Amino acid sequence: MFRPDPEHEAAAPYTRAFLTVYDAWVIRLSNRFAWRCDSGVMLELYNQNLGRRHLEIGPGSGWYLANTSAAPNPGHITLMDLNPTPLSFTARRINRPDRVVESVCGSVLNPVPVEAGTGYDSVGINFVLHCVPGDFTEKGVAFSHLAAVLTDDGVLFGSTILGRHKASRTLFGRALTAVYSRVGAFNNRHDDRGELETSLSEAFGECSITDVGAVTLFTARRPRRRPSSPS
Ligand SMILES: C[S@@+](CC[C@H](N)C(=O)[O-])C[C@H]1O[C@@H](n2cnc3c(N)ncnc32)[C@H](O)[C@@H]1O
Repeated sequence: MFRPDPEHEAAAPYTRAFLTVYDAWVIRLSNRFAWRCDSGVMLELYNQNLGRRHLEIGPGSGWYLANTSAAPNPGHITLMDLNPTPLSFTARRINRPDRVVESVCGSVLNPVPVEAGTGYDSVGINFVLHCVPGDFTEKGVAFSHLAAVLTDDGVLFGSTILGRHKASRTLFGRALTAVYSRVGAFNNRHDDRGELETSLSEAFGECSITDVGAVTLFTARRPRRRPSSPS
């Protein structure tokens, strides 16, 4: 099903079997002990920034969307992933009678598929960019794609592990990085904060970046509008 290229290889590990243990392995164990950033820190990003109409990129097991206390909680959530398995896993988990949940298959390296629509109040992209191949001069294009589907006062938020930010990396974190990089699940060796900031600023008029342990969290507002090319 997956093409043997780095983009598809990065999304391939998220099988139903892995997603079943994802909360225990990533949310409870690795975030705290490998990256020194409790999952509650990322959950707070969701609590603070989720809008009524939300687009979630790379939902994984859907733990953050399932556990957020954001008020009001989104009434419309679109899930987007290169791998269809996290889409069905998360859609089932966050389904509620008062909510519309839609799924689209696509990569952040390409424009958001038209069937996802536009006019989102928020876009979440948590722990996805360290998977995506290229450095931020290449994968930073994702920010322009996501800015294009936000409302003028919408917000993009998320977090990533920068390969060049080693200060708070534990022995466990270094071991995980080595193994994940070898299997193609991590592609963050050349990711640095300066290029993250530059690519965010190219797509948004207002950005904020903070580090907690080995995790870099960001929010961005005021999406820049590109003039459409003449037909
Ligand atoms: C490490 S998991 C993150 C899951 C969850 N967001 C979290 O914070 O725990 C990475 C997710 O990104 C997806 N993904 C990887 N590459 C992608 C790409 N190019 N475009 C969209 N999604 C991608 C994977 O399939 C997976 O669902």
